[in-house]
Amino acid sequence: MNQEHAGRITRDGIRIHDDADFAGMHAAGQVAAQILDEVADKVDVGVSTAELDDFITRRVTELGTVSATIGYKGYQHASCISVNHVVCHGIPDDKKKLKDGDILNIDVTVILDGWFGDSSRMYVAGKLSRKAERLIQVTHDSLMKGIDAVKPGATFGDIGHAIQSYVEGHRMSVVRDFCGHGLGTVFHAPPNVLHYGRPGMGPELEEGMFFTIEPMVNLGRPETKVLADDWTAVTRDKSLSAQFEHSIGVTADGAEIFTLSPAGRFHPTY
Ligand code: MF3
Ligand code: CO
Ligand code: CO
Repeated sequence: MNQEHAGRITRDGIRIHDDADFAGMHAAGQVAAQILDEVADKVDVGVSTAELDDFITRRVTELGTVSATIGYKGYQHASCISVNHVVCHGIPDDKKKLKDGDILNIDVTVILDGWFGDSSRMYVAGKLSRKAERLIQVTHDSLMKGIDAVKPGATFGDIGHAIQSYVEGHRMSVVRDFCGHGLGTVFHAPPNVLHYGRPGMGPELEEGMFFTIEPMVNLGRPETKVLADDWTAVTRDKSLSAQFEHSIGVTADGAEIFTLSPAGRFHPTY
């Protein structure tokens, strides 16, 4: 890492980080990833989303981290758990028991030594339907296409375009109402990382930038609405939605994924 540029803030408000910062993000990201690995064994028909969140809350503490979401803008849980047509920010609920064939995103953000590790994945309760399997596969692969576009000199528009063209090529839609974000020693920092866009548009990527990529993909139309609880975002047309999220850093020739699964289970339903 070019240490002499570390600490600089670009004209787009994006901080440039050094090697020690990469190490901090790696450590935080690995805890988030480990918790997402572990919770895979708890997902089952009849289990409530509150039970999954209780497990996550306990593991966040046991692993020496602090939840970034408890107390964030009044949110009270260590995870967001978004089932079926819930796009994101689903609130864990003891009355919400998983049914056979439900698909769910679990999103966990921890803080370790001041660094934020933010990741989410898809899980299934019981038997996965063919259409849900396709949605999950395309969503996962769109995230990896977005990460493949990351290198110094590329732009945020290149990332969005890689995701959007892949998703729309499979006749699915990219949610516009939520985006990825810079992170580091803060949860949500510049820039907004859009999951759609045009090549060459947007800020240029530089070595040392940290951000999330977290595409939400719908089987139907892209429009969402937020329910009366002020958090739960759902597809307007009630179609199924999926999401995967990694926290990454821009390296000299590509990306370091901080939230890779230590157990190789990022995509556990296959
Ligand atoms: N982890 C989510 C993200 O990817 C943010 C959740 S904020 C909460 O940015 F308050 F809803 F938990
Ligand atoms: Co995020
Ligand atoms: Co997240």
